[in-house]
Amino acid sequence: MEEHIAEIYDQEETTVEDVELIMELLKLHQCKNVLEPFCGTGRILLPIARSGVAITGMDGAKMMLNRLQEKLKEETDMVKNSVSVIHAELMSYTWPRGFDAVILGGNFFFEFATLEEQQRILRKAYQSVKNGGFIFISTDSIEKELPDHWCNVNVENRAFPSGICEDGIELKAYSKPVYVDKANKIWKAERRLEVYQNNKLTKEYTWEIQKYPIGYSEIVDMISRLDLEIIETWGDIKTRKPFSTGDDKATLWLRKK
Ligand SMILES: C[S@@+](CC[C@H](N)C(=O)[O-])C[C@H]1O[C@@H](n2cnc3c(N)ncnc32)[C@H](O)[C@@H]1O
Repeated sequence: MEEHIAEIYDQEETTVEDVELIMELLKLHQCKNVLEPFCGTGRILLPIARSGVAITGMDGAKMMLNRLQEKLKEETDMVKNSVSVIHAELMSYTWPRGFDAVILGGNFFFEFATLEEQQRILRKAYQSVKNGGFIFISTDSIEKELPDHWCNVNVENRAFPSGICEDGIELKAYSKPVYVDKANKIWKAERRLEVYQNNKLTKEYTWEIQKYPIGYSEIVDMISRLDLEIIETWGDIKTRKPFSTGDDKATLWLRKK
């Protein structure tokens, strides 16, 4: 079943604008050796490897990395030789060091339940990049309180991963907020995943998640505690507009001093 989740991820996450921006930045700053924590199935990693940059991808989900490895089989030897893959739980793992750049893309901050965990991840990225190297961050940004549409407690909505796989297996996922602290941005939800084969429900999984939807000013505060400088920001990658207050997405390019 887990490989079906990875397949639906690839069906749903097809954004290319962030990948184009990252590739431009890596070229401009001559980054040759890159680390991508939370690389998933390689949406960002593979185009970077195809451009001749050496890249190490890390992820805790074997199913996502398996799919990446399958895609790699179709690539040239040059691309295969440019990629290293590490399977690890990244909060506890000691990340490798000495990279020209670390890519923290794909809304990675929202994988974590607290600001402290998010801070730990940024610190690890900081330690992995060499002096004068770069960190790319791209995330949704919720600046003050949780918006109303996050706060419908006990209302179940369809969520990721929902869709039909090549082998006909259908996944229907649901998310139901069970605890919301609007002002302090604490959000807990029950997740439910139904698996259908030939239109019959064959399995059901439930679990709980917690998120801390971070905002731009909290990211800037974290950055100020490390020896990092903000080189450029974007509030909309498509138009390349710099970040301004109220934007619901934040992308930053940082340099380690
Ligand atoms: C939303 S996906 C993003 C994938 C890729 N960066 C992209 O943008 O397409 C997030 C990835 O982070 C991984 N992940 C989340 N928490 C993790 C953790 N604590 N340790 C390792 N991997 C984690 C998940 O397995 C998943 O593949």
